Amino acid sequence: MVLVAAALAGVVVGLVSGGAAAGGLIGDPGAVTRWGLPLARTLSDLAAALTVGLLTVTAFVLPAHGWERDERTPAPTHAGQGPRLGGVSLTATRLAASAGTLWVVAAAAVVVLSYSSLAGTPLTAPGFAAQLGSFVTSIDLLRALLASTLLAAVAATGATLATRHSTVGWMAVVSLVALLPVALTGHSAALRGHELAVDSLAAHLTGVSVWVGGLAALVLLRREIGQHLAVAARRYSTLALWCFVLVAVSGVVNATVRLGAWGALASPYGALVIAKALALILLGMAGWRHRAVLLPRVDQGWAAPFWRLVTGELVLMGMALGLGVALSASEPPLPSQPAPLVTIAESLTGFALPPAPVWSTWLTAWRLDLLWAGVALVLAGAYLVGVRRMRARGDRWPMWRAGAWLLGCALLVWVTSGAPGIYGRVLFSAHMFAHMMTSMVVPPLLVLGAPVTLAMRTMTARRDGSRGPREWLMQIVHSRALTFLSHPLVAAGLFAVSLTVFYYSPLFELSLRTHTGHVLMNVHFLLTGYLFASVLIGVDPGRARPAYPLRLLILFATMAFHAFFGVELLQGNRLLAPDVLAHLGRTWGRPPLADQQYGGAIAWAVGEVPTLLLGIGVALAWVRSDDRETRRGDRAADRDGGAELAAYNARLAALAERASKAP
Ligand code: HEM
Repeated sequence: MVLVAAALAGVVVGLVSGGAAAGGLIGDPGAVTRWGLPLARTLSDLAAALTVGLLTVTAFVLPAHGWERDERTPAPTHAGQGPRLGGVSLTATRLAASAGTLWVVAAAAVVVLSYSSLAGTPLTAPGFAAQLGSFVTSIDLLRALLASTLLAAVAATGATLATRHSTVGWMAVVSLVALLPVALTGHSAALRGHELAVDSLAAHLTGVSVWVGGLAALVLLRREIGQHLAVAARRYSTLALWCFVLVAVSGVVNATVRLGAWGALASPYGALVIAKALALILLGMAGWRHRAVLLPRVDQGWAAPFWRLVTGELVLMGMALGLGVALSASEPPLPSQPAPLVTIAESLTGFALPPAPVWSTWLTAWRLDLLWAGVALVLAGAYLVGVRRMRARGDRWPMWRAGAWLLGCALLVWVTSGAPGIYGRVLFSAHMFAHMMTSMVVPPLLVLGAPVTLAMRTMTARRDGSRGPREWLMQIVHSRALTFLSHPLVAAGLFAVSLTVFYYSPLFELSLRTHTGHVLMNVHFLLTGYLFASVLIGVDPGRARPAYPLRLLILFATMAFHAFFGVELLQGNRLLAPDVLAHLGRTWGRPPLADQQYGGAIAWAVGEVPTLLLGIGVALAWVRSDDRETRRGDRAADRDGGAELAAYNARLAALAERASKAP
């Protein structure tokens, strides 16, 4: 309750001080909408946080069927559907279902009120419902809010019906994905800095929901958790630390995009940002006090001070959440210089046309892609922590594997934030180069890093029936879905065919025009590239890999497919995504069609190099496995005096004798 009250107080204070709820402007939808929208948004953000928090705590903190599991209940496994829900986990999941239902209702109210605000039409206006019906799927903002509402409904339904722990894990993922479309709305929809604003707000909402919702979940499950508070609170505290960093970084990035200059901090919008930053600092101090002082006291059975501080935290979190909603309802301060006119390239791709590239551009051009830079940073950081743990306990880990992984992460940053990412929006050839790097160079390097093996050797296993990152990773690696996707023919098919499907369908233009399309394109290229490379040169646990000759066969078949695709483009004379690539106002470089044909040459030429390296990789692995086989045979022969060879010769002799006796 304190969380809800604080959030409502925060949004009201923010709206009044920021002036966002003031009426009398042209297209004023009326007080009901002016106040109703931010209030509904606050309730929607709160219910979303609670749903995400309860599902995440159940998936990562609580034992599948509670701590009161009796001996007759089988121990959980990481394969198949996983253990049935019980005890505190079942309670938490059903609470998540109720919170999810609240979320759907509040989010639906946000859709209706957003249309009223956008159209400047009061809810009571005649024909309002009909208008809403016709516009709800044609306006980007409403479409995004609707998508979020529908995904929230899926998570709520899943939480209602869930009987297995794995289902809760997947519903936690669905609920987190349901937050993302919201990041496409509000100020982030503005053109300038769009992608940075969307990525940072998406990260912000994710961090806030797990952090605030997770803490509220601990409070709601206080009785069921009982004496296991120390374990639960420590596991939550690890999650909370990651969320704290995520909320801080994403909040500062988003505020920087909105404010544009230090001076803007003096504006009402800036004041709200400062208030939130103060709340965050206080929350950081509370987190430190938990870790340093209060959790050790909980270990000794003294939980009262812990719960007192938790109440204080929830008040701060509520206030910050409410202020966040007030921020998104308040106009950011106007830039001191009037914004330059939007160019056609900007309206088509969201970015200004870059200057004509020279050779050094490929080393110096830079436009931060926050999402992929963040992903690469986390991947590199987690890997280095793993290697350090191995070394700390005296185990060896091949440095060339660590080198391959880190190079893969570095190249991912360059391809998305450097020249390939920048020019790939306006030049087909650069797009093709970026594609080749993202699907054929970065993934094999990451596969060579053997991340799953390192994770299995360095992550701590849970012993109380709960699932931490290690258990979930094993669950995913052995899941039916991944076993199917890593079938050599499926992986090769996905890798090769998606090339043609992507470029010869509206997906290519969608990836040039929209942020979501661009992100999904990179996710697809990376994952299909990783699956394919893992089949060929992977050593991590998972589906049994085909024999080496078959791997080479699959590789050469895919090479042929790639070459065919490259030649098709090289000789093609129909421009792909013409509405974008032919209308950018680009005055430098090759004309669009010639550039596309040059892209075909890149697909053919550049594409073959990594495939060749993969082929060498498979051949080397083959030779090494033969060596290992020979050494194993030699060791066995040393141990048993060559029993295997003797048996083999005896079989040959018996065969020869039978053949000699045959009429
Ligand atoms: C350094 C501290 C923080 C900064 C600089 C910051 C900044 C921001 C900014 C700029 C926005 C986007 C507003 C817009 O759309 O114009 C935002 C949204 C938001 N913030 Fe923060 N924030 C911070 C901490 C927090 C904390 C601690 C919480 C809650 C625990 C929080 C909760 C939210 C929420 C829920 C939204 C989205 C509101 C909505 O659109 O529904 N923020 N924040």
